[in-house]
Amino acid sequence: KKQVLTGIKPTGRIHLGNYIGAIKPALGLAENQSYNTAYFVADYHGLTKIHDPIEMKELSYGVAAAWLALGLNPDSAIFYRQSDVPEIFELSWILSCFAPKGLLNRSHAYKSMVEENKESGRNVDAGVNMGLFTYPILMAADILLFQTELVPVGKDQIQHVEIARDIAESFNNQYGETFVIPEYVIQEETAVLPGLDGRKMSKSYNNTIPLFEEPKKLQKLINKIKTDSSLPEEPKDPDDSIIFGLYKEFATTDQSEKMRRRFQQGIGWGEAKKELFDVMNSFIEVPRSEYEDLLNNWDRLDAILLNGATKARKKTIPFMKEIKRKIGLYH
Ligand code: TYM
Repeated sequence: KKQVLTGIKPTGRIHLGNYIGAIKPALGLAENQSYNTAYFVADYHGLTKIHDPIEMKELSYGVAAAWLALGLNPDSAIFYRQSDVPEIFELSWILSCFAPKGLLNRSHAYKSMVEENKESGRNVDAGVNMGLFTYPILMAADILLFQTELVPVGKDQIQHVEIARDIAESFNNQYGETFVIPEYVIQEETAVLPGLDGRKMSKSYNNTIPLFEEPKKLQKLINKIKTDSSLPEEPKDPDDSIIFGLYKEFATTDQSEKMRRRFQQGIGWGEAKKELFDVMNSFIEVPRSEYEDLLNNWDRLDAILLNGATKARKKTIPFMKEIKRKIGLYH
């Protein structure tokens, strides 16, 4: 069975980009009997940004509740909190000794902060903590510790998976075959879901549509999605429209085909947005109330996550011993 793994960091509420780019494909793989799946809350990655303990707790439980509400079965997948599996952090140090600094200098997240600092005349490293700089190493540890073959992610994470590959190869070259070399899995069409303003949907751009938004606010946000100034009767290219792009993620194939024709015949943006809201809202109704219930039950979430961490450590403890033995450490 192939090992699949992906994580989400608790730096904000789950948005449509997270769902369509990562959670939905990951859940698809979890339903397929030929994969072992490991999905987790990347809380230590979140710590690079979230320094308020209450916020950290609320956002972490939010990510966990989202996975479960959307249908992740914690009996078949390994579902855990990164911070509950200490072997990940042990491995992270080991891997950092195989990660050339130059490789991390080129990492997008770090580089874009440096660029921003330069543009605004600040010290290049202002606001950069070492956690942010070494972020890709911790992510490599997440992936490599589980002998992961497939990593379902959005396009913004490709570079991180490539860094994990590089680090794994250099370790393997030194000590012999140890780590599986992972590959990313990208949904081409939705690899970068645009946000309200047309840029990539991202917590840092403040242009997100939260997946579990309440109906009234959801409708308002959908109405804010940027569209062109074409008239209702003008034909529209469905494949060039974020409204249609989102519609088909939540609709049945039949509904999508009908909507595709309506776009081609000409549909007003207001009407198209109303249809998108209807299809999204009816999809999300049940998971949303499940999500809200779970958010009021941290004990239940803890029980599920701790059980997941126990399952995870059945794999990570013995593998960590093997890694230490290869390096020449006492184990
Ligand atoms: P994070 O928490 O920023 O995002 C979670 C997932 O959502 C995807 N995503 C998008 N996909 C398409 N369009 C968008 N606009 C969009 N915005 C976000 C991301 O690509 C990601 O798949 N470093 C990771 C978390 C992580 C991880 C890992 C992932 C930690 N360890 C190991 C995989 C394997 C992150 O910051 O994702």
